[in-house]
Amino acid sequence: MCGIVGAISDRDVVPVLIEGLKRLEYRGYDSSGIAVLSEGQMRRVRRTGRVAEMAAAAEAEDLHAGLGIGHTRWATHGGVTEANAHPHISRGELALVHNGIIENHEAQRERLTALGYGFESQTDTEVIGHLIHHHMSQGLDLLTALQTTTRELTGAYAVAVVSRAQPDRMVCARMGCPLLIGLGEGENMIASDVSALVQVTRRVVFMDEGQTALLTRDSVSLFNEQDREIEYEVHLSDVSLASLELGPYRHFMQKEIHEQPSALADTLEAVIDAGQFCHSMFGAKAEAILGEIEGVQILACGTSHYAGLTARYWIEAIAGLPCSVEIASEYRYREAYANPRHLIVTISQSGETLDTLEALKYAKALGHPHSLAICNVPESAIPRASELILYTRAGAEIGVASTKAFTTQLAALFQLTCVLAKQRGRLSASAEEEYLDQLRFLPGSVQHALNLEPQIMAWAEHFATKDNALFLGRGLHYPIAMEGALKLKEISYIHAEGYPAGELKHGPLALVDSEMPVVVIAPNDSLLEKLKSNTQEVRARGGELFIFADQDSCFEESEGVHVIRTPRHAGLLSPIVHTIPVQLLAYHTALSRGTDVDKPRNLAKAVTVE
Ligand code: AGP
Repeated sequence: MCGIVGAISDRDVVPVLIEGLKRLEYRGYDSSGIAVLSEGQMRRVRRTGRVAEMAAAAEAEDLHAGLGIGHTRWATHGGVTEANAHPHISRGELALVHNGIIENHEAQRERLTALGYGFESQTDTEVIGHLIHHHMSQGLDLLTALQTTTRELTGAYAVAVVSRAQPDRMVCARMGCPLLIGLGEGENMIASDVSALVQVTRRVVFMDEGQTALLTRDSVSLFNEQDREIEYEVHLSDVSLASLELGPYRHFMQKEIHEQPSALADTLEAVIDAGQFCHSMFGAKAEAILGEIEGVQILACGTSHYAGLTARYWIEAIAGLPCSVEIASEYRYREAYANPRHLIVTISQSGETLDTLEALKYAKALGHPHSLAICNVPESAIPRASELILYTRAGAEIGVASTKAFTTQLAALFQLTCVLAKQRGRLSASAEEEYLDQLRFLPGSVQHALNLEPQIMAWAEHFATKDNALFLGRGLHYPIAMEGALKLKEISYIHAEGYPAGELKHGPLALVDSEMPVVVIAPNDSLLEKLKSNTQEVRARGGELFIFADQDSCFEESEGVHVIRTPRHAGLLSPIVHTIPVQLLAYHTALSRGTDVDKPRNLAKAVTVE
């Protein structure tokens, strides 16, 4: 999704803007640009393609200034063209960058056209700049003009604006899209997320919905929806520069896959140290809320949704609570039945996914009083809107394909399950000890699975030549089959589907022939024999099998049957261990096909629009 950065300083801010935009690249974009106020002139550079190309153009044009804004655009309204790229300039007077979608842009466009404004782009954004310009022409200052404009907009936005008329300030506003302020020494900045600023400062202020801000070189003023100045809290970000660098890896996805043992150990640290499953890790009110709920409704998108689907098996079997899992974008638009005694659990790596955030708000409006967020980004919108929070500690995830966020979400959801079970007297002391032991061994088992990489690379060569693939799993591993298929399709562009193996003969078996590789996730669990029958159905139709089998699953290699042995069965945590091979398979297949692994086409890291 779009990324915003802005800075006001005594020094040249162009390198700050460029570096910030490079660090926002992971969010997904197709064009970029910066605008600066230099010696009273508004100067701008925009390019489609990579930030590096735009940066080279800025250098060629010798752009330097103490005030500027920058943007990476992920096209929504209007194609990927330089004219549609941000910043947009209104009548040479003010420049603006915007993240989000203005829903009433057509009505505003008509109004502005009648006022004599012309439009150079097909974007919804351009109306914002013209509206601010119009209000300034009526005598308002930059901040008041922005505040007035926000009241005329419907939709979602994070915006930052600079104006020739007031060259000593930058103003910004937030509604529905993330925006934070970075506090420096003799300089202040804004950005969509902290990764864009960490090179300069760790002191950040998170803007809330409806707030506006005025930044000068040495001051920051924050205003609420009623335009009253308010106090703000300064947070110290713990995102490290190292977590944003590639190090010895070729791609962030590869780095993040390999970081999973430590990401899991960090996420589990509190429970392992405590030596017990304890409600307090979800927040001060957790004991009462988790103790009184009678069911769980999980809402999430994409990979996070698959984490929820896996957790349903745990929550129903171990905690004995009914659990529904729904794609957030579906839930938010249907007349769902709300049971106020069911806890809403949202799962999100970014904490910014608009559909998940809106589904949470909708659930509350329907009468769900209690919510819990499982999230990887501190202080992001979804946890801020939730009563209880469990942060996964995966560290910054830059690759668009979610990897370590998923496995740490699973670890967090397993902890939630055990806390719910314990509160209901369904977790005996010996079971608690056994599960804690499994969690202690988990990072090691994951490391063991990572060691399978050379074998998986050989399989990937084969997959790279295919157009389709099927992934099969049963029970707890059915969502992992879906996750494997999602990983493969999103980064290698191979069409892939994940199916419950028992469903094969109800349709997808018709697709199986010698050209269809079939990946099977085969842990040594109670469904193993049933799964073996399903693999025979595939083989009998000439389908080639690629089986990830626990060491004790007793699958043998034969013609058309390839087996990679995963670590010994990890019990209820087996889905976490079995995720690693499908991630590696997708990664190496994409590598062989030469795709842009970290920034796959058409996708964004955090989906902050509908
Ligand atoms: C996963 O690989 C995806 N890129 C995507 O499905 C992602 O999981 C989804 O957009 C949800 O994101 P979130 O966890 O940040 O809410």
